[in-house]
Amino acid sequence: MKSKFPKDFLWGGAVAANQCEGAYNEDGKGLSVQDVLPRGIRGQRTDVPTEDNLKLKAIDFYHRYKEDIALFAEMGFKVFRTSIAWSRIFPNGDDEEPNEKGLAFYDDLFDECLKHGIQPLVTLSHYEMPLALGKKYNGWMDRRTISFFERFAKTVFERYQNKVKYWLTFNEINAILKAPFMCGAILTDKEELTESQLYTAMHHQLVASASVTKLCHEIIPDAMVGCMILGVTVYPLTPSPDDVIKTMLRDRETYQFAHIHARGEYPSYLLRYFEKNNIGVDITDEDKEILKNTVDFISFSYYSSICESANESAKMTGGNLSKGFINPYLKSTDWGWQIDPKGLRYTLTKLYDLYSLPLFIVENGLGAEDVLTTGENGEKTVNDDYRIAYLNDHLVEVEKAIDDGIPVMGYTSWGCIDIVSASTAEMKKRYGYIYVDRDNDGKGNLERYKKKSFYWYKNVIETNGESL
Ligand code: BG6
Repeated sequence: MKSKFPKDFLWGGAVAANQCEGAYNEDGKGLSVQDVLPRGIRGQRTDVPTEDNLKLKAIDFYHRYKEDIALFAEMGFKVFRTSIAWSRIFPNGDDEEPNEKGLAFYDDLFDECLKHGIQPLVTLSHYEMPLALGKKYNGWMDRRTISFFERFAKTVFERYQNKVKYWLTFNEINAILKAPFMCGAILTDKEELTESQLYTAMHHQLVASASVTKLCHEIIPDAMVGCMILGVTVYPLTPSPDDVIKTMLRDRETYQFAHIHARGEYPSYLLRYFEKNNIGVDITDEDKEILKNTVDFISFSYYSSICESANESAKMTGGNLSKGFINPYLKSTDWGWQIDPKGLRYTLTKLYDLYSLPLFIVENGLGAEDVLTTGENGEKTVNDDYRIAYLNDHLVEVEKAIDDGIPVMGYTSWGCIDIVSASTAEMKKRYGYIYVDRDNDGKGNLERYKKKSFYWYKNVIETNGESL
């Protein structure tokens, strides 16, 4: 069948600095929140970096990016999503001057991408805030953090204006309400935070997101800026109207973030929620003006759908930050994330129906345990047919959405090379087309090997999706 993907569809892969770079204290980098989170999202943070934290070295992308980008180019990537580690540029977050060595690293990285015809898609903040901002200001709890973020954004927009045309502000911006330390460098324990405090931190991030969107449009007029949202797909567990209403309310908790970025103002239901619950968030007139700077596209991560139910005793299931109820029609991964390709078409359609903005799938993939074997040609490989099946099924649904008339800009599968996972901070949970020799104990020589999915994806890109 003739491919429905547009000719300029941005095929590629995605990572985040803290999960791949390593070199956690090299060339002037300051500590980030990830350097003290050895067990991932739900684990305890440590006082100082500890050896068991795999992210400190990760897959050593900092020193091996040339080799890795050459492999991405071999697959035919048109785009590569990564983040800029804020603490490489401003080690303490509030420094007056940027760290030149950090800036030079990303210059080289982006040059390397462009050399291979790969467009960088850059996330400004991907769960890796400077730890010092937490210690000094309690992160996004403090309004001053907005101006530190603006300084960081201005610095990188000016520096990379001729190299980077696609930007995302905050990775999974709605996660701040769920994981305030990892997403916001907020040192106060979540249990001790009042709703007013949590929503205040959220508000500061939203203002910062709109403010840097404006800055980007001024500094790089031909750039596109997007927001990035997590966990957008929820179904009612049953046709019970109670489950439907519960789902509707839960949807709003997520969609409110897309709404603010796309429509430039708070939705009335969120303001009403503040009012009814005595939640005090200082939304100034100036903030309201800033929020009017809307994004050019909406991006999101999609791994799974979840169900919502009014019946609290129905069973719960996984996801890294979004828990839900088990859908009896779907199978789950080894990490308990339910696999739902059709949910991706549903999500694209719903987001477009609501906001009429172009969409970008910037994360999708299967986290699985891989076994390295020797292939027919004598080279080491992984026969990851399960990953190919997952990705193929999802892309078929993306194509259907495109055929329905939804503008989808691109697709960057998550962890295109094996990296340290975010929720559990392990190497065992792999997403890549490229296997990296490192295990959960940190052992391995970091060699890279092409998996079967490497050749599969290469063919998908080469045929612009016709081979699906
Ligand atoms: C997303 C994050 O939520 O999920 C990534 O943006 C993360 O940072 C990805 O890696 C997959 O989650 P995990 O826990 O399997 O790495």
